[in-house]
Amino acid sequence: MPLPPFFDYQKERGLMIEGVSLQQLAQKHGTPLFVYSKAAVLAALAAYQKGFAGREHLICYAMKANSTLAILQTLVRAGCGLDIVSGGELERALSAGVAPTRVIFSGVGKTRSEMRRALEVGIGCFNVESRAELDVLNEVAMGMGLQAPVSIRVNPNVDAKTHPYISTGLKDNKFGIAHEEVLDTYAHAAACKGLRVVGIDCHIGSQITSAEPYLDAMDRILDLVEAIELAGVPIAHIDFGGGLGIDYAGDTPPQADALWARLLQKLDTRGFGQRKILIEPGRSLVGNAGVCLTEVLYLKPGEHKHFCIVDAAMNDLPRPAMYQAFHQIVPVQPRLDASAQAWDVVGPVCESGDWLGRDRELAVQAGDCLAVLSAGAYCMSMASNYNTRGRAAEVLVDGETYTVIRARESAEDQFRLESLLPPAR
Ligand code: LLP
Repeated sequence: MPLPPFFDYQKERGLMIEGVSLQQLAQKHGTPLFVYSKAAVLAALAAYQKGFAGREHLICYAMKANSTLAILQTLVRAGCGLDIVSGGELERALSAGVAPTRVIFSGVGKTRSEMRRALEVGIGCFNVESRAELDVLNEVAMGMGLQAPVSIRVNPNVDAKTHPYISTGLKDNKFGIAHEEVLDTYAHAAACKGLRVVGIDCHIGSQITSAEPYLDAMDRILDLVEAIELAGVPIAHIDFGGGLGIDYAGDTPPQADALWARLLQKLDTRGFGQRKILIEPGRSLVGNAGVCLTEVLYLKPGEHKHFCIVDAAMNDLPRPAMYQAFHQIVPVQPRLDASAQAWDVVGPVCESGDWLGRDRELAVQAGDCLAVLSAGAYCMSMASNYNTRGRAAEVLVDGETYTVIRARESAEDQFRLESLLPPAR
C-alpha cells in the first residue's frame, strides 16, 4: 500500500516525514511518539480552500480529531475557525488564538456553564441539537442580557454508509432534530428573545468515502431552508458538517476540492450560490498527516498466532479496539536481512482487545521501530491513561526542523489531582 503524502523511504535513513528521519526522532524522544507533518496538514486544508475559492465560507476544523494546541494554531493561522464540543475544547481553542466569532459549538449535551462561558467570549454560533437545549440556551442568554446566535442541527435521515458508531445522520441516532420537526423548531427559536437564528447545520457521519450521502443531505437541507425562509426566518449560513474520509486501507474517498466542486454546483443549480457555507472537517485535515512510532519490545511466536508486542497500546491508539479500525503498520528501518511473517501487533495493556493490527506481514526484531500510519486523527485526542500509562509525546515536523509540541506525560502528572487519605489511626 502506498504511503501517505509527505512520508517516504530513503535508502539509508529509512522512513522520513518531510525532511526528518523518524528513526532519529524515536531515538531522541522515545516511544510511543506521535509525529505530524505540518505540510501534510496544510496541503489537506489547501484542497478545501481551493474548493471554496471565491465563495463566502468558513472552514471550522472539528478539533475533536486532534486538539493539541500547536495543531490548532497551525490550522487557525492558515485561516480556519474551529468546531468545538465542550467547555474544555473552548478553552483550548481560545489558548490557540482563534477569534471567538470563528468558533461554532456542536454537541447534544451542552451544560449551562458551558453556554455561559461561550456567550461571555462571544462565539460565532451554537449548533443546537434539541428543543430542550434551545430553551435552556434562551434562558441562559436572557439571564446575561444577550442573544445567542443559533443554528439548528438537522438530522437529515441519510445513510452515510460508514461504521455504525460513527454514523450520525440517521433517525435512530441521538444527534440533531428530526427533519419533520425542524420547521416548528425554527419558528420557536425565532420567537425566543434570547436567541438569534443565524444558520442551519447537519453532520451525517464520519469516514464517508463517497459523495452521494453528501448530495442527498444537501438536497434535504436546501428543501428545509426554502421552507424555513418562506415561513419568514432568514438563514444566513448553511453548515454541511464534516465527515470526509481518508485512505486507511486502500479507501478511495473523493478529494475535498472535487467533492466540493460537485456540492457547490448543486448549490448553484438550486439558487443558493451566494449563501455563506460552513463546514466542519476533522479527520480529513489531520488523519493522514500523523504517525505513531512504537518500539518492538518482544516477539512471542505461538502455535497459532505470533505476537509482536510493542510499547504503544489501546490507550494511545484506541481505534482498532473501539471500531476494529485498520491502521497500516510499517517498519521505520526496513530489514532486508530477515523474512517477513504474519504478526499480531499488540500492546502491553491487560486486555485481549489491546491490538493495533492483526496478521501483519512484517520482518521485525525486538528493538525495531514501527510506524502506525494515519494516526493524526482520533488517536491522541482519544488517548487515555488506562493502566496508568502516561500519554505519548508529540512532535510537529516542518521541513527539516521540528518542535516537540507535547511532552511525555509522567506518572506524577497523572495523579497530581488525587489525594491520599489521612494517616490511618
Ligand atoms: N462535526 C460534528 C458535529 C461531528 O460530530 C464530527 C465528528 C465532525 C464534525 C468531524 O467529523 P470528521 O470530519 O472528523 O469525520 N472517533 C471516531 C470518529 C468520531 C467522529 C465524531 N464526530 C473515529 O475514530 O473514527
